Order: sequence, then C-alpha cells, then structure tokens
Amino acid sequence: MKKKHWLLITIGVLAIIGIVIYILFHIGYLGSSTIKTNNESYAMGKQSLPIPEILEDEDPDPSKAAFTITAQKGMTEFIDGRKTETFGYNGNYLGPAIRVHRGVEVSVKVKNNLSEPTTLHWHGLKVDGEADGSPHNVIDPGDTWNPQFTVNQPAATLWFHPHYSHKTGEQVYRGLAGLFMIEDEVSESLHLPSDYGFDDIPLIIQDRRFDKNGQFDYTMKMRDTMKGMLGDTILVNGAVNPSTEVPKGLVRLRVLNGSNASVYQLHVENNQPFYQIASDGGFLEKPVKITKLELSPGERAEILVDFSTMKSGDTVRLLNNDIAFLNFVVNGTQKEVYSVPRKLTTIDKLNPKEAVKTREFIFQGMGSGVSINGKQMDMDRIDEKINYGSIEVWKINNYTNMQHPFHAHGVQFQIIERKGKRPKANEAGWKDTFIVQQGENVTVIAKFENKGTFMYHCHILEHEDAGMMGQFLVE
Ligand code: C2O
Ligand code: CU
Ligand code: CU
Repeated sequence: MKKKHWLLITIGVLAIIGIVIYILFHIGYLGSSTIKTNNESYAMGKQSLPIPEILEDEDPDPSKAAFTITAQKGMTEFIDGRKTETFGYNGNYLGPAIRVHRGVEVSVKVKNNLSEPTTLHWHGLKVDGEADGSPHNVIDPGDTWNPQFTVNQPAATLWFHPHYSHKTGEQVYRGLAGLFMIEDEVSESLHLPSDYGFDDIPLIIQDRRFDKNGQFDYTMKMRDTMKGMLGDTILVNGAVNPSTEVPKGLVRLRVLNGSNASVYQLHVENNQPFYQIASDGGFLEKPVKITKLELSPGERAEILVDFSTMKSGDTVRLLNNDIAFLNFVVNGTQKEVYSVPRKLTTIDKLNPKEAVKTREFIFQGMGSGVSINGKQMDMDRIDEKINYGSIEVWKINNYTNMQHPFHAHGVQFQIIERKGKRPKANEAGWKDTFIVQQGENVTVIAKFENKGTFMYHCHILEHEDAGMMGQFLVE
C-alpha cells in the first residue's frame, strides 16, 4: 500500500479512538467520582452551620430510651430566596441526632408522613434483622414502625437513612438522614472535646444539584446511572458554604459522607495536619496524624483539628480537593485545655485462624447492569447463609473500572488486607463501609453476632438501587 493510504488509515483510527474516548467521558464511563463543584459561585460564610439537635429521650428510665421520628415533607431555603421541596425527619431537611449510651434498651416510633413507602435503616448499628430497617421493614404512608433493640457496641458515630427498594437514592437525596451517636465508658473517660455543637461538631457532607427553579434535580442521566448521582454543590448539615465558630483550642469533628455517590478528599486549609481518632465503628487504638481524609459514601470519621495556634477572628477553611465548602471562624476559648490523647482504646483483633468460612464478593458490571457475584438484588433470594456467632473472612474484589464502597448491615468489620498489604493506620479500626478501588481486593473479617436477614451492597445509592446488593441470613 502507498504511504498516503497509511496516513489516512492512521488519521481515521485516531479519530475513532478520540470519538470513543469522548463518548465514554460523556456517559461517565471514564472520569472521577467527583464533578466540578459550583460552591465558588455562592458567598462563603454567609450561612451559619446548622447543628442537628439532639433528639429528646422520652423515657425517664436511664436504662431505656424512647424516641419518635417522623419522615415528612418540607421546604428548605438553600439558595437565597428559593424554596426547595425537601424531605426531613421531624423537620424540613435531614433529621435530629440520636445520642444513647451503650447498654441502653431503645424503642423508636418511626412514623411515615410521606406519600410513598419508606424504611429507616440504622447504618452501622449491630441489631437483629427485624430492627435493621432494611428493604423488608417497609413503612407505608401513614403507618408507624416500632423497632426495639439494645445498643451493644463501642462508642461511635453512626447514622440512619431510608432503605426502600429502588428509592433509597432519591429519598436520601431529598433529605432523609440523621446521626446516631453511641457513648460508653471509653468515650466518657477519654479527655476529648465533647461539648456538642461547640467543640464537638457534626458535619454531614452531601452534594446536590439544583435545577433552574432551585429544586433538587434527581433526574438520572446516562452519567448518573454509571457514576451515581454526583452533585455540583456541597452542603454541610444542609447549608451551602456555611461558617461556624470554633474555640481557640482542639476541636472534634464527626464527619459523615452522606452523599449518594461522591468520594471526598478532605483537607484543612494550608494542609494543616489533623488527627483521626475514630472510623465507622468507633475509636481507633491511637490517633492517626493525617493531612488528607478520603471518605466514600456512608463512611464516617472523627477527627481532631487544632485551632489553638490561631488568632481570634482567623478563618480556616475545610476543602474537598481544592474547593472550599466550610469556614471555621476562631473565636472564644474552652473551659478546659485538651490535647491529642496518646491512646484511645483497645481493639481485640479477630483472628483469621478462627474464621469458619471465607466468602468472595465480586463487584461487576456498570450502569443499570451493576451486580455482585453476577447477581442483582432479589428480595426473595438469600445469597449467603451464615452461622450465628461465627467468624468469617470476606474478600471483596472489584472487577469494574470505578471505585465502589462496600457496606454490610448488622456487623462491623476489621480490614485485614488491601491488595495484599496491611491497611493504613486510619483503617485499622472498626469499619462498616470501605472503598474498594478499581481492580483492588480487600480482605475483611467479622463476627456475626446478630440474627436475621441483612444486606450487603455498594453504598453508591444509585448502584444499590440498580441491584448492586445481596442478602445474607444469620441464624
Ligand atoms: Cu447506609 Cu444498606 O446502608
Ligand atoms: Cu447500613
Ligand atoms: Cu457501586
């Protein structure tokens, strides 16, 4: 063939490759799990950070607690002069925080005042299947569900959110989520900032997309089916670019990634180091000094940030990559002086030699075809049967080309290995949700101490709703 032909063929092939790459980007097959944020177009620090109130315990008996939570519709002004239709628990958007002591018997009345069915799931809580709030525990409009359980796990920052079949993503997006904090002898004996809302501050980080009318835009485009619903505006506790005062001292932040799909890379302005003291299921053994915190949907971390060297009036921003979305304004002092503890708790390591079984889970597929072990969620099918009280090793493999956070109900894991290596120090504690990067395999161990039917799934809520979920029965 002549040279000219080769040139034309080369140009043609390159053009086709270019078009294919362009299309893959466009539909979201390539690219990262965050999209460019729009936060810069909103004034920083104008709104003050809302602090979810602590839900009143209606039971005077200190060994018991009773709560009422109502899922309802509301209106919320996120953007000046625009009212967004939202959902909330006991309010317009998000919900109150539940705070209980370990050992307490809890009874909750969950009322559904929405015009669609919902469920309320306790993410991270070790309770039996019937109290878990899975897709099986449907609450029809107008009905009330009354789960009862005893809190029997270490101090931790957990959360609750709906889990209704194929609607979890949308109901969470509209605003249904709240915090569930457990305290125990360890959390109370550690000398840690614990004045809620003052030096112990909850941060529920979520991203949203608004349409022209200021309404949440939950229309799934091709990209959203692939990547999950990524927003362009980051909210903290339901406010855009809020600011909050912090005392000139050590401040504890309880961070929840309550987003549907976005993975955050959080850091403090000027890459100031901070200390992670807890992961999903409770305290780490020792604080871990870091400058960046990766948090995938569903994960929590408690961190200590030191503002003691700042001057009154100084502003320090919290950022995701290079986008600032929260302002800390240093002002005032604490009654006590806190320092970062050397030791936090002791975690008994589960021994892989005591595991009675090893199971494998494979994330596969994309878009509406996402699956685990080649299967999509079927409410009438139990995928795995586990003996009550036994220890098992689970290996989670990701054969897809994107990251997925793995989560299971009614259990807390310890990570043994990531791609054959020991986990980083801030992943060496209790985890109920952990990211599995593309091509990666993560080996975890757990003891199954609660009975009933439970879910395991990807915590990108659009993947979960599409069927990237399975069920295990513990009996
Ligand atoms: Cu955060 Cu199955 O849930
Ligand atoms: Cu959960
Ligand atoms: Cu996923």
